[in-house]
Amino acid sequence: MAALPSIRGIREMQAWSDHARREGKRIVLVPTMGFLHEGHLSLVREAGKHGDCRVVSIFANPAQFAPSEDFDSYPRDLERDVRLLTEERVDLLFNPAAEDIYPAGYQTYVDVEEVSRPLCGAHRPGHFRGVATVVLKLFNIVRPHVALFGLKDYQQVRVIRRMTEDLNVDVDIIECPTVREPDGVAMSSRNRYLGPAEREAARCLQSALGKAEALVRGGETAARRIREVVVDEISRQPLARLEYADLCDPRELHPVEEVDGPTLLALCAWVGNARLIDNRILGDDEP
Ligand code: PAF
Repeated sequence: MAALPSIRGIREMQAWSDHARREGKRIVLVPTMGFLHEGHLSLVREAGKHGDCRVVSIFANPAQFAPSEDFDSYPRDLERDVRLLTEERVDLLFNPAAEDIYPAGYQTYVDVEEVSRPLCGAHRPGHFRGVATVVLKLFNIVRPHVALFGLKDYQQVRVIRRMTEDLNVDVDIIECPTVREPDGVAMSSRNRYLGPAEREAARCLQSALGKAEALVRGGETAARRIREVVVDEISRQPLARLEYADLCDPRELHPVEEVDGPTLLALCAWVGNARLIDNRILGDDEP
């Protein structure tokens, strides 16, 4: 199998993209922080439908982790990632160094104000500022026509969409469904932190979402009541600690009191050392 072409330098990456664009190629970017799983690979496969050149970036972005968070222990395995991307025959790996993305004296950040505030933003101050900043930098460096993001990180997708709209960034954002393990647990690099009992306990997020959905299908519309059922389901699991369970409008992420149309139920719970998130759109009649 042919080796995976890869670029580390920023100017080299821009030159590669300029050349591809001059040749009329459509560049599709899948931004990742590495430690790839089936969720990432589903984005990589989907990327093939949206353009000619598939570029995957691997960059564990320090700016989106608070000092108390798991940046140092965030799982990394570049050798394995390269093997997986080679098997997927991606066109290019962009794997920049942190000192090139944030050189000494770096001081420019993108703050997507309102949509960054609730849900994860309320518990991880500065997180979405780090995400929006690195994503805009990746867009300026890789110069893609299209970029793909997974909906497990629902709020991240909203932040990136808002940022591209507000700053007139000429990149089409494609949202892809959450990929799940056979038992329903959403795929995440952080699942790596779960021991066997914790892995079993992690199923409570999915079961809480399922109970909420069943309630709404049964005619319940009161967000307070739906939230109670979710909180109850998570609290039955002694290894899980709920961080938030919120119902909000799926676009601006404003809290809602009634489910009277498509409504986002977003959940975050700690299971052991893993901070897990998941979500579902309730009240959407489409299958
Ligand atoms: O979702 C992720 O893996 C990251 O937040 C992203 C979009 C690659 C930015 O660092």
